[in-house]
Amino acid sequence: MTISLSDYLKQKREFFERKVRDYFPSTFKEAEIVLKAMEYSFFAGGKRFRPILALTACEALGFNSEDIIPACLAIEMIHSYSLIHDDLPAMDNDDFRRGKPSNHKVFGEGTAILAGDALLTEAFYIASRYPEKKELTEGKLKFVTQLSDSAGIRGMVGGQVMDIDENKPFNEQFLEKLHMAKTGAMIKVSALTPLIIHNDYRFYSDVKSYALNLGLLFQITDDILDIESSSEKLGKTAGKDIEQHKLTFVTLFGIQGAKNKAKNVFEETVKCAKKIPNNKYLVKLAEYIFSRDK
Ligand code: IPE
Ligand code: IPE
Ligand code: MG
Ligand code: MG
Ligand code: MG
Repeated sequence: MTISLSDYLKQKREFFERKVRDYFPSTFKEAEIVLKAMEYSFFAGGKRFRPILALTACEALGFNSEDIIPACLAIEMIHSYSLIHDDLPAMDNDDFRRGKPSNHKVFGEGTAILAGDALLTEAFYIASRYPEKKELTEGKLKFVTQLSDSAGIRGMVGGQVMDIDENKPFNEQFLEKLHMAKTGAMIKVSALTPLIIHNDYRFYSDVKSYALNLGLLFQITDDILDIESSSEKLGKTAGKDIEQHKLTFVTLFGIQGAKNKAKNVFEETVKCAKKIPNNKYLVKLAEYIFSRDK
């Protein structure tokens, strides 16, 4: 049975939202304010694209979705932390996120930094502990290795460092590396999650190529939306990349150049998806990212 893409995304998002309540940390009295700050950003209503991607790859390859829920939560917690820190005055200085005032605008910078730290750390606690098994399985261990690789210096953090480097070269080679690191790495690990957790590497290189292209596409469309969409629609401040002299596909090639690049990367993403079995929704996710308006 085929359902519409918007129903599909809603169904997957709601499944994720329901399941994560079982694992999200509850209380620690003396640090309650940080828990509130974590919840404020985490449950603010993001698209949940990374967990949806992991669940879609999971179904395509015929694995059990329940087994990857803690891993999906860990990925989304790291993503939420990266947004809290990305909005800080020392980074993009953004006052809005997910349709609400940024974390530091509500809780102050100190608590926002700590909420990010706590989300990052808790992600690894959850990924290594759940689903409850007596031993740390090989799949979980390998997932923790790949997640830390994607989130850290060789992945998202490294990309953020490139992003704020005031002396960076303005050329395509550097830009592609930057986007692949700051955004692509977490999208790559999301799509690979079911394979890693289930310790089954049969389609690893096909899924990896698909996800690397999808990650690049995701950030190119983010760059385009920064110019073409509105703050209301995005739930974050539009138009800030030019103002802050960011290196993006739009600031480097203009809006049409960025759209041409997005089209090429989209076509490549679909080509890669077609090598994966049961790829219908993997292709649809690429179409969604190519044509998204928020
Ligand atoms: C925003 O990510 C940051 C980027 C990597 C471009 P999303 O566009 O996935 O943000 P949410 O999770 O939906 O808020
Ligand atoms: C940030 O990229 C990507 C992260 C790793 C958080 P952007 O700075 O372009 O993300 P937005 O536009 O603020 O969501
Ligand atoms: Mg940024
Ligand atoms: Mg930003
Ligand atoms: Mg952006």
